[in-house]
Amino acid sequence: MAIISSINSCSDNLIICVLLLLSISYGAFCSPLDITSSFFIFGDSTVDPGNNNFIETIAEYRADYEPYSQNGFFETPTGRFSDGRIIVDFIAEYAKLPIIPPFLHPSADYINGVNFASGGAGVLSGTNQGLVIDLQTQLKSFEKVQKSLIEKLGDEEANKVIKEAVYFFSIGSNDYMAGYLGNPKIRQRYNPEQYVGMVIGNLTEAVQVLYRKGGRKFGFLSLSPLGCLPALRALSPKANEGGCFEEACALALAHNNALSSVLRSLEYMLKGFKYCNSNFYDWLHDRINNPTKYGFKDGVKACCGTGPYGGIYTCGGRKKITEYQLCDNVDDHVWWDSFHATERIHEQFAMALWNGPTSSVGPYSLQDLFFDKAQLTIADVVDDPRADL
Ligand SMILES: *[C@@H]1O[C@H](CO)[C@@H](O)[C@H](O)[C@H]1NC(C)=O
Repeated sequence: MAIISSINSCSDNLIICVLLLLSISYGAFCSPLDITSSFFIFGDSTVDPGNNNFIETIAEYRADYEPYSQNGFFETPTGRFSDGRIIVDFIAEYAKLPIIPPFLHPSADYINGVNFASGGAGVLSGTNQGLVIDLQTQLKSFEKVQKSLIEKLGDEEANKVIKEAVYFFSIGSNDYMAGYLGNPKIRQRYNPEQYVGMVIGNLTEAVQVLYRKGGRKFGFLSLSPLGCLPALRALSPKANEGGCFEEACALALAHNNALSSVLRSLEYMLKGFKYCNSNFYDWLHDRINNPTKYGFKDGVKACCGTGPYGGIYTCGGRKKITEYQLCDNVDDHVWWDSFHATERIHEQFAMALWNGPTSSVGPYSLQDLFFDKAQLTIADVVDDPRADL
């Protein structure tokens, strides 16, 4: 009856009628499960939503205290290493998913995916060992989630969820900063090429493990210009000239190049494998060097920290150094603390990944992976966060 009366009123308002008819046919032919993908996240502090709140670690690897989360989006500090949200929160929003919970949260449900990331974690188990949840352990946790989905939904439906899901990785920085540059023994044992090969080898294996479990769609946040993080700039041999730490930048570039070519070959070898890679390095470097072009005032100094460039890591909690300075306007800054970007950077790069320029993102965008475009309705297009950009 409701359908008939809305069709009868078509002459009154043609546009509303067209939208109504579209949404009726949409509802009739596609259940939401057909178009929404779950979202599984693996990584380090760039994407940790608070898993480290639940493990034994040091204050440097936690962010569940003020002034973290200070912008008020979340009522209390969540454990995110940001003044507010992080990149995966925005991606979830664009994908029309709720905020994806930390795996270790006691009330986490897995129905829209779950986030396994841990601040300080690396690809290699040796990186910050004992203080973080390494990638191997994150993959084991995924196995548990897969089992519980099978129990809950049955084989067929669970396999569909696993196949349609997007698997997002943001990891590797700690392998190079703490695992290599900060570890003289490892530097003696491996030259940079060997070490990058090990990190990439283990990351490739992680992707293959998920592929064998049924995963098909993968997203990657590549490494930033690590040497330009305030913490590393402060350690640079050219610190007083304002330079970035070149060796750290070189490792990040080598990693990103190796990852790009591995992904290109996986695409040939693994049937149905689709991915979204990103050039976060150049994208962020541009904002660091030309902050005003993008609405920032400072691309160099941390908002929260102390010492040169705010690069001495202290920003509340029970860190070794307790005294810190906090800037007045976070939104002027690229960097929130000595190692982590502000919410604004997270939001801008989430948009780039979602539907960004091919110079930064490809071969697929995250939007391509989350939604089958043929099934989009006018309503989806109108809701696109980038529609008015
Ligand atoms: C993975 O990392 C370990 C060191 O943690 C290394 O011995 C091994 O060769 C790496 N695997 C691959 C495939 O590169």
